[in-house]
Amino acid sequence: MCGIVGYIGQRDSVPIILDALARLEYRGYDSSGVAVIDANGELLGSKAEGKLANLTARLRDGEHISGKIGIGHTRWATHGRPSDANAHPHMDCSRRMAVVHNGIIENYAVLRDRLLEQGHTFTSETDSEVIAHLLESNCAAGGDGTVTERIEAALRATLRELVGAYALGVICADDPEHLFFARNGASPLVAGHENGEVFVASDTPAILQYTRKQLIVHEGEMLVVSANGWKLTDYDGNPVHRQATTISWDPGSAEKGGFKHFMLKEIFEQPTVINETLAGRIDEQGDVRLEAELDSISEDLLRSISKISITGCGTAFNAGMVGMYLLRSLVRVPVEMELASEFRYGDPVIDHGALTIAMSQSGETADTIEAVRIAKGAGATVLGICNRLGSPLTRVADATLFTRGGPEIGVAATKTYVSQVTAMILFSLYLARLRGTAPLERLREIAKNTSLLPAAIDVLLNESDSIRAVAKSMRKAHSVLFMGRYVNVPTALEGALKLKEISYIHAEGYPAGEMKHGPIALLDSSVPVVGIATDGRVREKIISNLMECKAREAPIIVVANYGDTEVASFADHVFWVPKVDEMLSPILNIIPLQLLAYHIADLEGKDVDQPRNLAKTVTVE
Ligand code: F6R
Repeated sequence: MCGIVGYIGQRDSVPIILDALARLEYRGYDSSGVAVIDANGELLGSKAEGKLANLTARLRDGEHISGKIGIGHTRWATHGRPSDANAHPHMDCSRRMAVVHNGIIENYAVLRDRLLEQGHTFTSETDSEVIAHLLESNCAAGGDGTVTERIEAALRATLRELVGAYALGVICADDPEHLFFARNGASPLVAGHENGEVFVASDTPAILQYTRKQLIVHEGEMLVVSANGWKLTDYDGNPVHRQATTISWDPGSAEKGGFKHFMLKEIFEQPTVINETLAGRIDEQGDVRLEAELDSISEDLLRSISKISITGCGTAFNAGMVGMYLLRSLVRVPVEMELASEFRYGDPVIDHGALTIAMSQSGETADTIEAVRIAKGAGATVLGICNRLGSPLTRVADATLFTRGGPEIGVAATKTYVSQVTAMILFSLYLARLRGTAPLERLREIAKNTSLLPAAIDVLLNESDSIRAVAKSMRKAHSVLFMGRYVNVPTALEGALKLKEISYIHAEGYPAGEMKHGPIALLDSSVPVVGIATDGRVREKIISNLMECKAREAPIIVVANYGDTEVASFADHVFWVPKVDEMLSPILNIIPLQLLAYHIADLEGKDVDQPRNLAKTVTVE
């Protein structure tokens, strides 16, 4: 969703801000803008609807601005349609200060009415613009101290009046030596300081090429930045002492590295990502060791939990569902799934004996964070499964198991899905050993087989070209059904989600046994059915379901194990995968489906990495 960037130093801020904003494009946006204080102390800005290229062209072709201090923004519309006027930065009436804002100001209507009465003039339909006018009004009230201290005090007064979850950045022509930032709620903010330059952004990859030492600003904190460093305080002005964290991500990992799209690169990174997720978590005997990482959830507590509920959104939910089957099978504990977006309204029954597992790549998804708050409020212990160090989820959860997926730039989650499933395998094996619910040899065998998955995925990735050939035969379909059973129901859901989000072809994932209860009515020769029929307890059942689809003339595409002649005899196309333990099969079976979705979208010329209407992180309800 929205992105914030700030810079102060000796260089012209505009190219740096544009470069950092480009690295935030993946989060999804529909307009952008930049504001600087130039060498004459004037506040200048430029904004454009649409892609960042429109802003770059505007800055090049007539609205050239430069300055050693500036802020920039990519906006994902909430209040007011995407337009030049609604793009950030927003300025006050005197055009002395510029504000960028992520999140939602819930009480903006009341504030706006009051400010209008006081004579302020608004130029946009956004909730964000109230911040600029409120700050102007609070600055006008005067105060003691230096200009910086007066702006700080006015910003504090402004923050006290704002209701909602947000991150914001401010520059003020009266103080060309400082930038001001604040954070309240899920919207992240990081800052890095290198050789007389400070870079601030709402997401780590935006400034990774400039600095790997990044300070994470927490909720309820204000950051005042100069070229020499920063001052971090709480909203009352009390100093907060926190060291910058060194980010281990390689800056190159947020580049395309020769691939046509980030999504394709990230699909190909999956063997590495699984290795990373497993690294150091399985000992020489083959036992999973997570006690050090999960130390705030004691082993006794884990032994005593009476129920597990797993929550998340989209792909993270699907990964959680694989975890549900693993936990049921290995730990024999009641496990239920609850979509995070339904959690707060669904009256979930949670008590002190419950463990809630919250799955989120970004750790920022508003619904997931809210679900965690509700679960904690009801007394549950919360385990986060998350990819982002310092993200809101990691701070509200009792403990976090990091997925180590690295930065994922393509909006469609791929490598983070397999890393989440891998983390779920690890946690299930760990819990089963602690509770003694499965034979140790069986757990060790699964752990060993998990470590063999990367090599198997390497083999599958070699099939990318043959999957593209199948994609050619499916690219004009209006609707595609994906069917799985048992542990591969989530594979079907995830395969359908990938296809619909990047190709815009309608796709549904279904438990195959449900076909006869409705969806089979959709089938004819124009609706391909993709079935997952790898070895295991449901293979024969799903083959029967696929035969029923074939009898309705649907083209049949099957994910099956090498050498399955029965499947080969009736399928129109087969995606062959190596045979593995059924519990681990979702990790292999999703690979051809990711590639299928990718190739269909690419053949159709779709914007694979930034599909329409979608944002990488969904920070609003
Ligand atoms: C789909 C996709 C989304 C996310 C969902 C949750 O490809 O990426 O469905 O999985 O928005 O995001 P996180 O995991 O960041 O909470």
